[in-house]
Amino acid sequence: MDTAPAPAAEAWSPRPAYWLDDVPTAYGHGPAVVLLDQTRLPAEEVRLVCSDVATVVDAVRRLVVRGAPVLGIVGAYGVALAAARGEDVKAAADDIARARPTAVNLAWGARRALAAWQAAGGSAEAALREARVIHEEDAAASAAMAGHGARFAAGLPAERPLQVLTHCNTGALVSGGEGTALAVVRELHRAGRLGRLWVDETRPLLQGARLTAYEAARTGMPYTVLSDNAAGSLFAAGEVDLVVVGADRIAADGATANKVGTYPLAVLARHHGVPFVVVAPMSTVDRDTPDGAAIVVEQRDGGEVTEMAGTPLTPPGSTAYNPAFDVTPPALITAIVTESGVLSPVSAIAIARMSAGHDPV
Ligand code: MRU
Repeated sequence: MDTAPAPAAEAWSPRPAYWLDDVPTAYGHGPAVVLLDQTRLPAEEVRLVCSDVATVVDAVRRLVVRGAPVLGIVGAYGVALAAARGEDVKAAADDIARARPTAVNLAWGARRALAAWQAAGGSAEAALREARVIHEEDAAASAAMAGHGARFAAGLPAERPLQVLTHCNTGALVSGGEGTALAVVRELHRAGRLGRLWVDETRPLLQGARLTAYEAARTGMPYTVLSDNAAGSLFAAGEVDLVVVGADRIAADGATANKVGTYPLAVLARHHGVPFVVVAPMSTVDRDTPDGAAIVVEQRDGGEVTEMAGTPLTPPGSTAYNPAFDVTPPALITAIVTESGVLSPVSAIAIARMSAGHDPV
Protein backbone atom coordinates (compact mmCIF):
# COMPACT_ATOMS: atom_id res chain seq x y z
CA MET A 1 0.00 0.00 0.00
CA ASP A 2 1.26 3.50 -0.84
CA THR A 3 1.16 5.43 2.40
CA ALA A 4 2.51 8.78 1.12
CA PRO A 5 0.15 11.72 1.77
CA ALA A 6 -1.90 12.83 -1.26
CA PRO A 7 -0.14 15.72 -3.08
CA ALA A 8 -1.92 18.99 -3.95
CA ALA A 9 -4.53 18.50 -6.68
CA GLU A 10 -2.73 20.25 -9.54
CA ALA A 11 0.55 18.41 -8.94
CA TRP A 12 -1.13 15.05 -8.54
CA SER A 13 0.49 12.23 -10.46
CA PRO A 14 -0.27 8.57 -9.74
CA ARG A 15 2.94 6.88 -11.08
CA PRO A 16 1.07 4.03 -12.82
CA ALA A 17 4.25 2.07 -13.61
CA TYR A 18 7.87 2.29 -12.60
CA TRP A 19 11.03 0.32 -12.12
CA LEU A 20 12.56 -0.64 -8.77
CA ASP A 21 16.16 -1.77 -8.83
CA ASP A 22 16.05 -3.95 -5.78
CA VAL A 23 12.95 -5.09 -3.94
CA PRO A 24 12.54 -7.91 -1.46
CA THR A 25 10.17 -10.36 -3.15
CA ALA A 26 8.94 -13.89 -2.83
CA TYR A 27 11.75 -14.80 -5.23
CA GLY A 28 14.49 -13.07 -3.24
CA HIS A 29 15.93 -9.59 -3.77
CA GLY A 30 15.98 -8.24 -7.29
CA PRO A 31 14.63 -5.79 -9.84
CA ALA A 32 10.90 -5.38 -10.45
CA VAL A 33 8.29 -3.53 -12.47
CA VAL A 34 5.87 -1.91 -10.04
CA LEU A 35 2.28 -1.22 -11.13
CA LEU A 36 -0.51 0.74 -9.51
CA ASP A 37 -3.32 -1.85 -9.57
CA GLN A 38 -6.06 -0.14 -11.60
CA THR A 39 -8.50 -2.98 -10.93
CA ARG A 40 -8.62 -1.86 -7.27
CA LEU A 41 -9.23 1.84 -7.95
CA PRO A 42 -10.86 4.00 -6.74
CA ALA A 43 -11.36 2.04 -3.51
CA GLU A 44 -7.70 1.29 -2.81
CA GLU A 45 -4.31 2.50 -4.06
CA VAL A 46 -2.38 -0.76 -4.08
CA ARG A 47 0.87 -1.56 -5.88
CA LEU A 48 1.56 -4.86 -7.61
CA VAL A 49 5.24 -5.78 -7.64
CA CYS A 50 6.10 -7.80 -10.76
CA SER A 51 9.36 -9.67 -10.23
CA ASP A 52 9.10 -11.76 -13.40
CA VAL A 53 7.73 -11.43 -16.91
CA ALA A 54 4.85 -13.89 -16.36
CA THR A 55 3.48 -11.56 -13.66
CA VAL A 56 3.79 -8.56 -16.02
CA VAL A 57 1.93 -10.43 -18.78
CA ASP A 58 -0.81 -11.52 -16.39
CA ALA A 59 -1.16 -7.95 -15.07
CA VAL A 60 -1.59 -6.62 -18.62
CA ARG A 61 -4.25 -9.26 -19.41
CA ARG A 62 -6.17 -8.54 -16.19
CA LEU A 63 -6.02 -4.75 -16.78
CA VAL A 64 -4.03 -4.12 -13.61
CA VAL A 65 -2.27 -1.76 -15.99
CA ARG A 66 -4.15 -0.58 -19.09
CA GLY A 67 -4.34 2.25 -21.59
CA ALA A 68 -2.19 2.43 -24.68
CA PRO A 69 0.72 4.76 -23.72
CA VAL A 70 1.49 3.12 -20.37
CA LEU A 71 1.27 -0.29 -22.03
CA GLY A 72 4.17 0.85 -24.23
CA ILE A 73 6.15 1.82 -21.13
CA VAL A 74 5.31 -1.43 -19.33
CA GLY A 75 6.13 -3.48 -22.44
CA ALA A 76 9.62 -1.98 -22.44
CA TYR A 77 10.13 -2.35 -18.66
CA GLY A 78 8.96 -5.96 -18.98
CA VAL A 79 11.69 -6.69 -21.53
CA ALA A 80 14.23 -4.92 -19.30
CA LEU A 81 13.07 -7.16 -16.44
CA ALA A 82 13.60 -10.29 -18.54
CA ALA A 83 17.12 -9.09 -19.40
CA ALA A 84 17.93 -8.24 -15.78
CA ARG A 85 16.73 -11.66 -14.59
CA GLY A 86 18.52 -13.57 -17.34
CA GLU A 87 15.21 -14.81 -18.82
CA ASP A 88 14.86 -15.53 -22.56
CA VAL A 89 14.54 -11.90 -23.66
CA LYS A 90 13.21 -12.55 -27.17
CA ALA A 91 10.53 -14.94 -25.85
CA ALA A 92 9.63 -12.42 -23.15
CA ALA A 93 9.20 -9.65 -25.73
CA ASP A 94 6.93 -11.93 -27.79
CA ASP A 95 4.83 -12.90 -24.75
CA ILE A 96 4.41 -9.28 -23.70
CA ALA A 97 3.58 -8.14 -27.26
CA ARG A 98 0.86 -10.81 -27.51
CA ALA A 99 -0.71 -10.14 -24.09
CA ARG A 100 -3.31 -7.82 -25.66
CA PRO A 101 -3.71 -7.40 -29.42
CA THR A 102 -5.25 -3.98 -30.09
CA ALA A 103 -3.10 -1.32 -28.39
CA VAL A 104 -0.12 -1.14 -30.73
CA ASN A 105 1.99 0.60 -28.06
CA LEU A 106 2.45 -2.65 -26.11
CA ALA A 107 4.29 -4.50 -28.88
CA TRP A 108 6.01 -1.26 -29.93
CA GLY A 109 7.49 -0.71 -26.44
CA ALA A 110 8.56 -4.34 -26.08
CA ARG A 111 10.20 -4.32 -29.52
CA ARG A 112 12.05 -1.07 -28.85
CA ALA A 113 13.57 -2.42 -25.64
CA LEU A 114 14.40 -5.72 -27.36
CA ALA A 115 16.12 -3.88 -30.23
CA ALA A 116 18.18 -1.84 -27.75
CA TRP A 117 19.16 -5.02 -25.86
CA GLN A 118 20.17 -6.74 -29.12
CA ALA A 119 22.07 -3.71 -30.46
CA ALA A 120 24.09 -3.55 -27.23
CA GLY A 121 25.07 -7.23 -27.47
CA GLY A 122 22.56 -8.41 -24.85
CA SER A 123 23.07 -5.63 -22.32
CA ALA A 124 20.40 -5.49 -19.59
CA GLU A 125 21.43 -1.89 -18.85
CA ALA A 126 20.70 -0.94 -22.48
CA ALA A 127 17.20 -2.44 -22.31
CA LEU A 128 16.45 -0.57 -19.09
CA ARG A 129 17.89 2.66 -20.50
CA GLU A 130 15.58 2.35 -23.51
CA ALA A 131 12.56 1.72 -21.27
CA ARG A 132 13.40 4.85 -19.29
CA VAL A 133 13.73 6.84 -22.55
CA ILE A 134 10.29 5.60 -23.68
CA HIS A 135 8.89 6.60 -20.29
CA GLU A 136 10.38 10.12 -20.56
CA GLU A 137 9.34 10.49 -24.20
CA ASP A 138 5.77 9.66 -23.25
CA ALA A 139 5.76 12.31 -20.52
CA ALA A 140 7.02 14.89 -23.03
CA ALA A 141 4.48 13.75 -25.66
CA SER A 142 1.71 14.08 -23.11
CA ALA A 143 2.64 17.68 -22.30
CA ALA A 144 2.84 18.55 -26.01
CA MET A 145 -0.55 16.94 -26.75
CA ALA A 146 -2.14 18.83 -23.86
CA GLY A 147 -0.90 22.11 -25.33
CA HIS A 148 -1.88 21.34 -28.94
CA GLY A 149 -5.29 19.96 -27.96
CA ALA A 150 -6.16 22.83 -25.63
CA ARG A 151 -5.17 25.41 -28.28
CA PHE A 152 -7.36 23.58 -30.82
CA ALA A 153 -10.28 23.55 -28.36
CA ALA A 154 -9.73 27.22 -27.54
CA GLY A 155 -10.25 27.99 -31.24
CA LEU A 156 -13.73 26.44 -31.28
CA PRO A 157 -16.69 28.80 -31.34
CA ALA A 158 -18.08 28.70 -27.81
CA GLU A 159 -20.39 30.89 -25.79
CA ARG A 160 -19.51 29.25 -22.48
CA PRO A 161 -16.70 27.34 -20.84
CA LEU A 162 -16.55 24.05 -22.73
CA GLN A 163 -18.66 21.06 -21.74
CA VAL A 164 -16.47 18.16 -22.74
CA LEU A 165 -17.51 14.52 -23.03
CA THR A 166 -14.96 11.73 -22.72
CA HIS A 167 -15.02 7.93 -22.74
CA CYS A 168 -12.87 5.38 -20.93
CA ASN A 169 -9.76 6.62 -19.09
CA THR A 170 -6.99 8.55 -20.77
CA GLY A 171 -5.27 10.45 -17.96
CA ALA A 172 -2.18 10.17 -15.79
CA LEU A 173 -3.06 6.54 -15.01
CA VAL A 174 -2.19 5.61 -18.60
CA SER A 175 0.88 7.76 -19.16
CA GLY A 176 4.33 8.88 -18.15
CA GLY A 177 2.77 12.36 -17.93
CA GLU A 178 -0.81 13.59 -17.57
CA GLY A 179 -2.18 11.37 -20.35
CA THR A 180 -3.76 12.04 -23.72
CA ALA A 181 -7.39 13.20 -24.00
CA LEU A 182 -7.68 13.82 -20.27
CA ALA A 183 -4.42 15.81 -20.35
CA VAL A 184 -6.13 18.15 -22.83
CA VAL A 185 -9.12 18.49 -20.48
CA ARG A 186 -6.78 19.16 -17.55
CA GLU A 187 -5.06 21.88 -19.58
CA LEU A 188 -8.44 23.45 -20.41
CA HIS A 189 -9.27 23.35 -16.70
CA ARG A 190 -6.00 25.11 -15.81
CA ALA A 191 -6.81 27.76 -18.41
CA GLY A 192 -10.28 28.31 -16.92
CA ARG A 193 -11.92 27.02 -20.13
CA LEU A 194 -13.56 23.87 -18.74
CA GLY A 195 -17.22 24.18 -17.85
CA ARG A 196 -17.83 20.51 -17.10
CA LEU A 197 -16.33 17.13 -17.87
CA TRP A 198 -18.95 14.55 -18.79
CA VAL A 199 -17.57 11.12 -17.91
CA ASP A 200 -19.06 8.13 -19.72
CA GLU A 201 -19.13 5.27 -17.20
CA THR A 202 -17.68 2.94 -19.90
CA ARG A 203 -19.33 -0.46 -19.56
CA PRO A 204 -18.45 -3.19 -18.86
CA LEU A 205 -15.32 -2.50 -16.79
CA LEU A 206 -16.19 1.09 -15.83
CA GLN A 207 -12.89 2.77 -16.69
CA GLY A 208 -14.78 6.07 -16.84
CA ALA A 209 -16.77 5.77 -13.60
CA ARG A 210 -13.89 4.26 -11.62
CA LEU A 211 -10.75 5.80 -13.10
CA THR A 212 -11.59 9.02 -14.96
CA ALA A 213 -13.86 10.16 -12.13
CA TYR A 214 -11.03 9.32 -9.69
CA GLU A 215 -8.59 11.44 -11.69
CA ALA A 216 -11.08 14.28 -12.14
CA ALA A 217 -11.72 14.34 -8.40
CA ARG A 218 -7.98 14.26 -7.57
CA THR A 219 -7.28 17.15 -9.93
CA GLY A 220 -10.26 19.28 -8.94
CA MET A 221 -12.13 19.22 -12.24
CA PRO A 222 -15.91 19.72 -12.28
CA TYR A 223 -17.24 16.40 -13.54
CA THR A 224 -20.42 14.37 -13.84
CA VAL A 225 -20.62 10.64 -14.57
CA LEU A 226 -23.30 9.35 -16.93
CA SER A 227 -24.30 5.87 -18.04
CA ASP A 228 -23.08 5.27 -21.59
CA ASN A 229 -26.61 5.17 -22.95
CA ALA A 230 -27.39 8.65 -21.55
CA ALA A 231 -24.97 10.27 -24.01
CA GLY A 232 -27.60 10.58 -26.77
CA SER A 233 -30.00 12.64 -24.70
CA LEU A 234 -27.10 14.78 -23.44
CA PHE A 235 -26.15 15.68 -27.02
CA ALA A 236 -29.82 16.27 -27.90
CA ALA A 237 -30.10 18.69 -24.99
CA GLY A 238 -27.17 20.71 -26.40
CA GLU A 239 -25.00 19.97 -23.36
CA VAL A 240 -21.91 18.69 -25.20
CA ASP A 241 -19.51 21.16 -26.92
CA LEU A 242 -16.61 18.79 -27.59
CA VAL A 243 -15.80 15.07 -27.45
CA VAL A 244 -12.20 14.06 -26.69
CA VAL A 245 -11.07 10.44 -26.57
CA GLY A 246 -7.83 8.48 -26.71
CA ALA A 247 -6.81 5.71 -29.09
CA ASP A 248 -5.37 2.22 -28.94
CA ARG A 249 -4.37 2.09 -32.57
CA ILE A 250 -4.61 4.59 -35.40
CA ALA A 251 -4.45 2.98 -38.85
CA ALA A 252 -2.66 4.54 -41.81
CA ASP A 253 -5.91 6.05 -43.07
CA GLY A 254 -6.76 7.58 -39.67
CA ALA A 255 -9.33 4.96 -38.62
CA THR A 256 -9.09 4.76 -34.84
CA ALA A 257 -9.63 1.87 -32.44
CA ASN A 258 -10.60 2.93 -28.94
CA LYS A 259 -12.64 1.59 -26.04
CA VAL A 260 -15.94 0.06 -27.18
CA GLY A 261 -18.58 2.77 -27.17
CA THR A 262 -16.37 5.37 -28.83
CA TYR A 263 -17.80 4.84 -32.34
CA PRO A 264 -21.42 5.55 -31.25
CA LEU A 265 -20.17 8.81 -29.69
CA ALA A 266 -18.56 9.79 -33.01
CA VAL A 267 -21.87 9.13 -34.81
CA LEU A 268 -23.75 11.19 -32.23
CA ALA A 269 -21.19 13.99 -32.44
CA ARG A 270 -21.51 14.15 -36.23
CA HIS A 271 -25.31 14.16 -36.05
CA HIS A 272 -25.28 17.02 -33.55
CA GLY A 273 -22.46 19.02 -35.20
CA VAL A 274 -20.08 18.58 -32.24
CA PRO A 275 -16.29 18.28 -32.84
CA PHE A 276 -14.94 14.77 -32.18
CA VAL A 277 -11.22 14.81 -31.36
CA VAL A 278 -8.81 11.88 -30.90
CA VAL A 279 -5.69 12.51 -28.79
CA ALA A 280 -2.84 9.98 -28.96
CA PRO A 281 0.96 9.88 -29.13
CA MET A 282 2.67 8.99 -32.41
CA SER A 283 3.49 5.60 -30.85
CA THR A 284 -0.21 4.77 -31.33
CA VAL A 285 -0.10 5.41 -35.08
CA ASP A 286 0.49 2.14 -36.92
CA ARG A 287 1.39 2.65 -40.55
CA ASP A 288 1.50 -1.15 -41.02
CA THR A 289 -2.26 -1.33 -40.44
CA PRO A 290 -3.79 0.13 -43.61
CA ASP A 291 -7.33 0.80 -42.40
CA GLY A 292 -9.93 0.16 -39.74
CA ALA A 293 -10.93 -3.25 -41.10
CA ALA A 294 -7.36 -4.46 -40.55
CA ILE A 295 -7.32 -3.58 -36.85
CA VAL A 296 -7.54 -6.65 -34.62
CA VAL A 297 -10.18 -5.96 -31.96
CA GLU A 298 -9.64 -7.81 -28.70
CA GLN A 299 -12.61 -9.98 -27.68
CA ARG A 300 -12.80 -10.42 -23.93
CA ASP A 301 -14.49 -12.92 -21.64
CA GLY A 302 -18.29 -12.63 -21.70
CA GLY A 303 -18.27 -12.83 -17.90
CA GLU A 304 -17.23 -9.17 -17.85
CA VAL A 305 -20.70 -8.39 -19.27
CA THR A 306 -22.83 -11.05 -17.56
CA GLU A 307 -21.40 -10.40 -14.09
CA MET A 308 -20.67 -7.31 -12.01
CA ALA A 309 -17.92 -7.72 -9.40
CA GLY A 310 -18.61 -11.45 -9.31
CA THR A 311 -22.41 -11.08 -9.01
CA PRO A 312 -24.41 -12.55 -11.92
CA LEU A 313 -26.50 -10.00 -13.87
CA THR A 314 -28.02 -12.43 -16.37
CA PRO A 315 -29.73 -15.83 -16.25
CA PRO A 316 -27.28 -18.76 -16.01
CA GLY A 317 -25.96 -19.79 -19.43
CA SER A 318 -26.41 -16.36 -21.07
CA THR A 319 -23.81 -15.62 -23.71
CA ALA A 320 -22.32 -12.16 -24.19
CA TYR A 321 -20.75 -10.09 -26.98
CA ASN A 322 -17.75 -8.35 -25.42
CA PRO A 323 -15.39 -6.60 -27.84
CA ALA A 324 -12.97 -4.42 -25.86
CA PHE A 325 -12.77 -1.81 -28.62
CA ASP A 326 -14.58 -0.42 -31.65
CA VAL A 327 -13.28 1.39 -34.71
CA THR A 328 -14.22 4.93 -35.71
CA PRO A 329 -13.75 5.74 -39.41
CA PRO A 330 -11.65 8.78 -40.29
CA ALA A 331 -14.61 10.61 -41.83
CA LEU A 332 -16.17 10.96 -38.37
CA ILE A 333 -13.01 12.33 -36.72
CA THR A 334 -12.71 16.13 -36.66
CA ALA A 335 -9.04 16.11 -35.63
CA ILE A 336 -6.25 13.86 -34.40
CA VAL A 337 -3.93 15.51 -31.88
CA THR A 338 -0.45 14.07 -31.37
CA GLU A 339 2.74 15.48 -29.88
CA SER A 340 3.59 16.63 -33.43
CA GLY A 341 0.51 18.83 -33.75
CA VAL A 342 -3.12 18.79 -34.87
CA LEU A 343 -4.18 16.90 -37.94
CA SER A 344 -7.46 18.14 -39.40
CA PRO A 345 -8.99 17.03 -41.68
CA VAL A 346 -7.89 13.44 -41.13
CA SER A 347 -6.57 11.63 -44.22
CA ALA A 348 -4.02 8.97 -45.15
CA ILE A 349 -1.79 11.63 -46.71
CA ALA A 350 -1.91 13.82 -43.61
CA ILE A 351 -1.11 10.80 -41.40
CA ALA A 352 1.84 9.85 -43.62
CA ARG A 353 3.16 13.41 -43.53
CA MET A 354 2.88 13.57 -39.74
CA SER A 355 4.49 10.12 -39.37
CA ALA A 356 7.57 11.13 -41.37
CA GLY A 357 10.38 11.42 -38.86
CA HIS A 358 8.70 9.02 -36.43
CA ASP A 359 10.34 5.79 -37.52
CA PRO A 360 8.68 2.56 -36.40
CA VAL A 361 10.91 -0.02 -34.71
O1 MRU B 1 -9.22 -1.82 -22.30
P1 MRU B 1 -8.47 -0.59 -21.89
O2 MRU B 1 -8.93 -0.02 -20.61
O3 MRU B 1 -6.98 -0.79 -21.95
O4 MRU B 1 -8.82 0.47 -23.02
C1 MRU B 1 -8.16 1.71 -22.99
C2 MRU B 1 -8.70 2.67 -23.98
O5 MRU B 1 -9.50 2.37 -24.81
C3 MRU B 1 -8.12 4.05 -23.93
O6 MRU B 1 -9.05 5.00 -24.35
C4 MRU B 1 -6.89 4.10 -24.86
O7 MRU B 1 -5.96 3.11 -24.51
C5 MRU B 1 -6.23 5.40 -24.82
S1 MRU B 1 -5.39 5.65 -23.28
C6 MRU B 1 -4.66 7.15 -23.48
